[in-house]
Amino acid sequence: MSLRMREQLIFEYSRAGRGAHAQWPAVPPAPESSARATSARAASATTRDSADDGGVPASLRRGRPPLLPEVSELDVVRHYTRLSQLNFAIDTHFYPLGSCTMKYNPRACNAVALLPEFLGRHPLAPEELGQGFLACLYELQEMLKAITGMRAVALSPLAGAHGEFAGVSMIRAYHHARGEAGRNEIIVPQAAHGTNPASATMCGCVPREIAVGPDGDVDLAALRAALGPRTAGIMLTNPSTLGVFERHIEEVAQRVHAAGGLLYYDGANLNAILGKVRPGDMGFDVMHVNLHKTFSTPHGGGGPGAGPVGASERLLPFLPLPIVACVDRGADEAHASEAAPRYRWLDEHDLPQSIGRLAGFGGNAGVLLRAYVYLRLLGREGLQRVAQFATLNANYLSARLQQAGYDAAYPGRRAGHEFVLTLRRQSQELNVTAKDVAKRLLDLGFHAPTTYFPQLISECLLIEPTETESKQTLDAFVAAMERILCEAREEPQRLQSAPYTLPVRRLDDVRAARELDLVYHGSARESAADAATS
Ligand SMILES: Cc1ncc(COP(=O)(O)O)c(C=O)c1O
Repeated sequence: MSLRMREQLIFEYSRAGRGAHAQWPAVPPAPESSARATSARAASATTRDSADDGGVPASLRRGRPPLLPEVSELDVVRHYTRLSQLNFAIDTHFYPLGSCTMKYNPRACNAVALLPEFLGRHPLAPEELGQGFLACLYELQEMLKAITGMRAVALSPLAGAHGEFAGVSMIRAYHHARGEAGRNEIIVPQAAHGTNPASATMCGCVPREIAVGPDGDVDLAALRAALGPRTAGIMLTNPSTLGVFERHIEEVAQRVHAAGGLLYYDGANLNAILGKVRPGDMGFDVMHVNLHKTFSTPHGGGGPGAGPVGASERLLPFLPLPIVACVDRGADEAHASEAAPRYRWLDEHDLPQSIGRLAGFGGNAGVLLRAYVYLRLLGREGLQRVAQFATLNANYLSARLQQAGYDAAYPGRRAGHEFVLTLRRQSQELNVTAKDVAKRLLDLGFHAPTTYFPQLISECLLIEPTETESKQTLDAFVAAMERILCEAREEPQRLQSAPYTLPVRRLDDVRAARELDLVYHGSARESAADAATS
């Protein structure tokens, strides 16, 4: 594999008349579906030929076919295989992107989630035909309850931030139901994940930021000052984006509850505490977890996710729907017919105060199934090992990098599953920034750590090694970081112009964001044709 390779756009391989569609063996359609297909084709041809073309006004209809690339099957295979090799991925590189938990996910989880019985299931099929699927979801809910210490879990939110939206909506609904609609302030410590204040705002609340102290814990004096009759609750990311576990958590919980507020736990950093401590036991009322970080779906890359929410006793009535229930057949259990459905979806009749439905059907089924299999594979002890190795790896890497000459942002604190370095000193003394280090790491075969937050720390590198990396990989990363520090001292311009080995050099990311242009404008001939027909 070579990241130096250049790859053209697929349009640039295009040659008129070349195609691949004829090479796929035709599968003869089943007899009656073939008859249906023939009449559908006839109907669609009639519609195409008809004057209004299916209701699309003539002014909006294209004058000629779209300019799709005309390429052979081999062109397509080579193009996409080469593109896949230009990527940094967990399957190819160490990927210590802080706050993203880019860990290796066992293939077995995916293989089971892809069983045809799951894939072929129709979401509108009757409950009695989907009992196996519902049993998996029910058990997933139960396992997440056991892990978080919450009284009930709803699986449907589709991302971490979506779980936060659900949780804050539940807090709002709770206060409304008690006639306290004026409680609309959500306290958010500076060390919270950026989605927390955004979710509070999306729910119509006003986020009130409070400071964290020099050791990374919530500033209790600032918390006291922020609490009042308008307090709806607090959103605490724990361990925070600074990589440290909040040591005053019980006092925070006690103070917020005493002021009439509720406690939201951002559990996306669950890797650090799995099987060790439970937010429910710390007094939290509602939380989400990111299945696409901790439980076997990769985070990032724009793929699907799931952010189930858990609720304490007082928020149970407000959980989003649907939820899977296990029907209690009591003394009749032994005589119950095999066919009688044991699991069913709860709906608006069961939970009239629910905040409602946030996703189609039950949520992202594939992500939920992978999480279920992962939990069954690891079991209670395996999950504890996840947290042990995630924190051990983070603390080992943090100590080795400090020995190598890097500064920890919170040197007095033990890391959770991730930690923050600051290049403040190097930027002043050597004119080398965290971004320079991140770019040079790419040349040396490592995905860069997070550099754009936590915003509290200037020139930061947020590093999350995860539990799935070996000591050899961590040592290789330390060696690369040692080399970079030598280069920073001896030839800083080498870092300032990195990367050298990638298909593209350092890009103007501000311009890329402001003037995003992803449209292929075609060859001169095509542009001329476009101009003639427009
Ligand atoms: C601590 C924390 N909270 C919330 C989120 C938001 O999750 P999502 O990206 O799925 O919306 C993340 C994402 O990485 C996170 O790390």
